[in-house]
Amino acid sequence: MSEVSIEDLTVFAKKKGFVYPSNEIYGGFAGFYDYGPLGVELKNNLKSNWWKTFVQNRDDIFGIDGSIISSKKIWEASGHLTSFADLIVECSKCKNNHRADHLIEDKLAMNVEGLDANALNKLIKDNNIKCPDCKSSLKEIKSFNLMFPVQVGTSKDNIAYLRGETAQLIFSVFKNVVDSSRVKLPFGIAQIGKAFRNEISPRNFLFRTREFEQMEIEYFIRPKEKKCPLLSKRQLQLEFQFLSEQDQVKKRKHKKVKMSSLINKKLLGEWHAYWLAESYLWFIDLGIKEKNLRIREHTKQELSHYSLGTFDIDYNFPFGWKELYGNANRGQYDLKQHMKFSGKSMEIFDEQTKQRLIPKVIEPSFGVDRAFLTFLYDAYESDKKGGNVVLKLNSQIAPIKIAVFPLVNKLDEHALKVYLMLKKDFVCKWDRSGSIGRRYARADEIGIPYTITYDFDSLDDKSVTIRDRDTTKQIRVKIEDLKKVLCKLLKGEKFEKQGKLIK
Ligand code: GAP
Repeated sequence: MSEVSIEDLTVFAKKKGFVYPSNEIYGGFAGFYDYGPLGVELKNNLKSNWWKTFVQNRDDIFGIDGSIISSKKIWEASGHLTSFADLIVECSKCKNNHRADHLIEDKLAMNVEGLDANALNKLIKDNNIKCPDCKSSLKEIKSFNLMFPVQVGTSKDNIAYLRGETAQLIFSVFKNVVDSSRVKLPFGIAQIGKAFRNEISPRNFLFRTREFEQMEIEYFIRPKEKKCPLLSKRQLQLEFQFLSEQDQVKKRKHKKVKMSSLINKKLLGEWHAYWLAESYLWFIDLGIKEKNLRIREHTKQELSHYSLGTFDIDYNFPFGWKELYGNANRGQYDLKQHMKFSGKSMEIFDEQTKQRLIPKVIEPSFGVDRAFLTFLYDAYESDKKGGNVVLKLNSQIAPIKIAVFPLVNKLDEHALKVYLMLKKDFVCKWDRSGSIGRRYARADEIGIPYTITYDFDSLDDKSVTIRDRDTTKQIRVKIEDLKKVLCKLLKGEKFEKQGKLIK
């Protein structure tokens, strides 16, 4: 496991052009980040892989791209203007505000997730917790709404909101998709896009920011439908680390369970299990190590205002186990709320039951930036001295797939031809400076899965050497076969089988 701290990863990400602190030339802007040349490639690869997996490869999910600024009415209906808040505590002297749960967690090293204002107030008093900035006493806890208001047009009274979750744009466009796309239950609507939250204490690099992206699906099913015909054998037999509500109440650790056993114990319904498994496998199939993941059930107290039951996928970050992904059973809450507030029917005709009904919703919700942070951290490996970093990113999401090197500068012209040929089909990098060893190290550090060297033998045998980043094994491959071989390698086919292994 990578032992890099979140601070070291932040420095690495900046140095290599993955992510920079936003507005840095003006002293920075807390909670906002800019993605650099490698970061934007990695992020786009994550998003396009997700879109292909969950939208394009399926017949039951429809994509949309809703507006970022939306009317106050949407957020009144969704309950975000009243319930989407965190608890803050103000210092009586310096007036700085702190997120109450974070402050207590930092001071007492305990998990206070889901505790209400009274319980947190008591913890602050009992443990004599002071302002971390000036050490003065703290006032009573109050609630702080996380929605970002914006003025639209010239009137100061025309207040709209930056969306706090992409989900609401799916619910508000639900009827349009139903009417225009001939959908049949069960089906989903998916969206990738920005969301904004006025977080009180953005921290831990990309983990908690004020502007971030989400990849969300609202999956609509018949309200009484219990059976999920999509559940596969792989999903039912999926084994993972699980922390139930009971385990948390009794302060026990997570344990290994099978998805089928959670369904049998009625801890979660089949549709919920299907989406949890499908999402968990997306992370695993793209290379996240299973030992670093667990599924955690939300306790009753911490459930969001819309949720009948939520299960998170947590990752073991350097700052502890934290939510990477959330999956809520939102029931009929949102569609009913929008029906009530807009006066428009959200019922749809179900061909199977020949009834008009309001579907129930299971919501798999991925954060792009948190997934980005997770993939980066999980892939980061350095030797003990911290000198040589190898970023073992899965080749499907690696920002650059191939690097081409001439062994010596004399071979530039020949190697360049190979590079220009490959560049038409792959994201490639050309590197001719420094020793071959240095060039390998530079490529490893930014996660390039395969490097190609054109050497003196290439002039005669019309072949090149491909090196595998993770094993450092090398094979010799004919230039005319190179594209075909690289396609196979990038699809995950066995390295040794694609050419003559160099001993
Ligand atoms: N629609 C449901 C929803 O928004 P959430 O648990 O509040 O649920 C879903 O957010 C995901 O969005 C999280 O699992 C996380 O990946 C990401 N996310 C939420 N708040 C974030 C923040 N402040 N910074 C970065 N990512 C965030």
